[in-house]
Amino acid sequence: MIVEQARAKLNLALHVRARRADGYHELVTLFAFVDHGDAVSVKASDAPAFAVSGDFADALVGEADNLVLRAEHAFCAVFGIAQTHAIHLEKRLPVASGIGGGSADAAATLRALARLHGIAADDARLWQIADDLGSDVPACLASTTVIGKGRGEKLQPIAGAPGTPVLLVNPGIAVSTGEIFRRWDGADGGALPSGPVIEVAMASRNDLYPPAREIAPAIGDSIAWLETMAGVRMVRMSGSGATCFALFDTADDCAAAHRRARAEHPDWWAVATQLV
Ligand code: C5P
Repeated sequence: MIVEQARAKLNLALHVRARRADGYHELVTLFAFVDHGDAVSVKASDAPAFAVSGDFADALVGEADNLVLRAEHAFCAVFGIAQTHAIHLEKRLPVASGIGGGSADAAATLRALARLHGIAADDARLWQIADDLGSDVPACLASTTVIGKGRGEKLQPIAGAPGTPVLLVNPGIAVSTGEIFRRWDGADGGALPSGPVIEVAMASRNDLYPPAREIAPAIGDSIAWLETMAGVRMVRMSGSGATCFALFDTADDCAAAHRRARAEHPDWWAVATQLV
C-alpha cells in the first residue's frame, strides 16, 4: 500500500494577463502548499476498486469522472500497465473551493502509481499526464512553492517560506472556476514583482477576487473578517475561491484566529495550518 498526501494548494498571487483563443486565460501565479489536505492510498489488486471517505466524501458520490480515476486511467494507458488497482481517497478538503483538492488528488494518484510501478518522479510522461488533467495538476505534482505561467502549468522554481502559519476559511460556497474567469474584466494584471516569496505575495493580488466576490458576496465578508485578526500579515482569496486565507506572524496568532472563526462562524470550514 502506497500513501501520498494531496496537499491543499494556495495561490499566494494570481495575475490574469490575457484571454486565449483556446478558452483558457494566460496568467502568472504564485503557488504554495500547506500541511493539510487529502490523502490517496493505492495498491495493486485483482479487480479495480475506488472508495472515498472523509468529511467531504459525500460531495464526490456519483461523480463519474473523478480526477483520481482519470489520473489512474491515463497513467495505465501511457505506461502500458495492465495491473488493476484499489484506490482509497480520504477527502478532507472542500470541493470546488479554490485550493485545488481535485488537482492535488490527481497528482497524488500519479505520484503513488509512479512509486508502485518504479517510474521516476521526473519522467516527462508523468508531467504530460498532469498537464492534460488540468492547469493546476503539474503544480500539485510538484507540491512545492513554484511560479506558474501559461495556463498555470509552466513552472518556475522559487524559494518558499515553510512554517509560515496559515488560516484557511471557506464560507461553505462552491464556485465555478469557468464562470469566474469569464467575468474577469480583461485588464492585464501584469507580471509579478521579484523578491522573497512573501514579499512577492504581499505586493500582488488575486485578479479573480473581484468577479468571485460579485457572484458570492460572502467571500468579501470572509476577507473583511480575516483582515481584523491580530498578527495577520496578508489576506487573500485562493484560485477562483471561495476559500480565503490569512498568513500570520506567529502560530499563536493563527491559532487564536482559528478559535475565533469556530466561535463566530461555526458554519465556516476553518483550518489552521502552515506553508510547507
Ligand atoms: O484546467 P482546468 O480544467 O482546471 O480549468 C478549469 C476551467 O477554468 C477551464 O475550463 C477554464 O474555463 C478556466 N481556466 C481558465 N484559464 C486558466 C485555467 C483555467 O480560463 N489558466
